[in-house]
Amino acid sequence: MTLIDQSPADPAATPEAAAYRLAGVVKTYAQKGRVVQALTGVDLEIASGEFVTIQGPTGGGKSTLLQLLGALDTPSAGHVMIGETDLATASATDLEHVRAREIGFVFQAFNLIPTLTAAENVDMGLEPLGLDRSERAALVADALERVGLAERADHRPGELSGGQQQRVAIARAIAKRPRVLLADEPTGNLDESMRDDILAVLEQLNAEGLTLVVVTHDSAVARRAGRRLRLDKGTIRDITR
Ligand SMILES: Nc1ncnc2c1ncn2[C@@H]1O[C@H](COP(=O)(O)OP(=O)(O)OP(=O)(O)O)[C@@H](O)[C@H]1O
Ligand SMILES: [Mg+2]
Repeated sequence: MTLIDQSPADPAATPEAAAYRLAGVVKTYAQKGRVVQALTGVDLEIASGEFVTIQGPTGGGKSTLLQLLGALDTPSAGHVMIGETDLATASATDLEHVRAREIGFVFQAFNLIPTLTAAENVDMGLEPLGLDRSERAALVADALERVGLAERADHRPGELSGGQQQRVAIARAIAKRPRVLLADEPTGNLDESMRDDILAVLEQLNAEGLTLVVVTHDSAVARRAGRRLRLDKGTIRDITR
């Protein structure tokens, strides 16, 4: 059986490749006739295998930045390089490839489908890859195993705790073995012990080579990162001690 060839656990295969290079990134939105500048000229490099957190006040531009890192949107000015792909010049097909294979997304509200089991939810993340059934089943089982939920594969979200549901969402995001995991407030809906549970899972994945970019209001999460960034009024700054 041939599984897809990208291994997040093997950053040494491309040691020179930065996960991200952003230069002069501006993002403006037109909002009720008024222009909002959500990012005001962000320069940022994220190396493969880093664990970076982004903190900052509401409206500071965190989700906007994450959308660009996820190739879900394009900058108004400046350059976003995702690995070797330039967002500005990439074709729609290239962008689809990047989104489908290289980037996993996790959100605060787990966004699981309540009528599907954990395994079926995880399988949804593999849909764009065009794999056959047995390949998918192997990747689903592996992803659930990695988040410690192998024995919950047949449970529906309503039968799982919040922390377990978020672990299913993480499994869904990593099942395709992306290079990068982007998370927007992944512990925002969880109590402390569930938060620690999710942190442990994220740290384990990072130790295996997955690049992590986590937006968080929680300084307990940020303390675990290799580098802490702060976005305020669209301006980024390194606040790592
Ligand atoms: N689709 C949009 N259309 C118009 N304005 C937007 C859009 N998305 C974001 N904005 C504006 O851009 C700015 C940055 O928003 P963003 O969602 O990135 O902030 P955030 O740091 O994620 O905030 P929060 O902590 O509340 O999630 C805000 O002023 C917001 O109103
Ligand atoms: Mg946000």
